[in-house]
Amino acid sequence: MNSLVVYYSRTGKTKEVGNLISEKLSCDVEEIFDTKKRSGILGFIKSGKDAIKKKLTTLEEINKNPDLYDLIIIGTPIWASNMSTPIRTYISEHKDKFKNIAFFCTEGSKGGVKCFENMENLCDKKPMATLEINKKMIKKDIYIDKIKDFVEEIKKS
Ligand SMILES: Cc1cc2nc3c(=O)[nH]c(=O)nc-3n(C[C@H](O)[C@H](O)[C@H](O)COP(=O)(O)O)c2cc1C
Repeated sequence: MNSLVVYYSRTGKTKEVGNLISEKLSCDVEEIFDTKKRSGILGFIKSGKDAIKKKLTTLEEINKNPDLYDLIIIGTPIWASNMSTPIRTYISEHKDKFKNIAFFCTEGSKGGVKCFENMENLCDKKPMATLEINKKMIKKDIYIDKIKDFVEEIKKS
């Protein structure tokens, strides 16, 4: 299956997981960037508000056409128990091109389940696999096994 990993990452955790998934699947990867500044404490507050209000943003131009892939694996950090604003925007703009989807997220402690429900509703499609990685899993290094299981689930589908 021709897959594309697409992720947004404000502070690097989702990026690390996204890059590991693409390495293990030997597939293309696209990091998406927001034109809105989200760094620092003000960026944190703005991002929380945007996520709660389900706002959209303006993304920088993407490099990979999702139409050309059988599977889009979408990764987001959890913001206020929801998907990040850049990922909400990416899905809203491109969901008609998705053939199959899978989701992953990184989070402090919780919010992934609700976030995946919201992403499924927005895509109007069921994900073939999901992966939720929290801070504790990263600290204890058990996230590597979780990523392996996620990739295996995708490969056997
Ligand atoms: C605005 C904002 C809201 C957040 N809300 C949650 C939350 O509801 N639950 C949670 O477990 N972590 C929450 N976090 C923590 C991030 O999900 C977590 O640190 C994530 O791994 C960051 O990914 P990144 O480094 O790719 O940006 C929040 C972070 C931000 C910036």
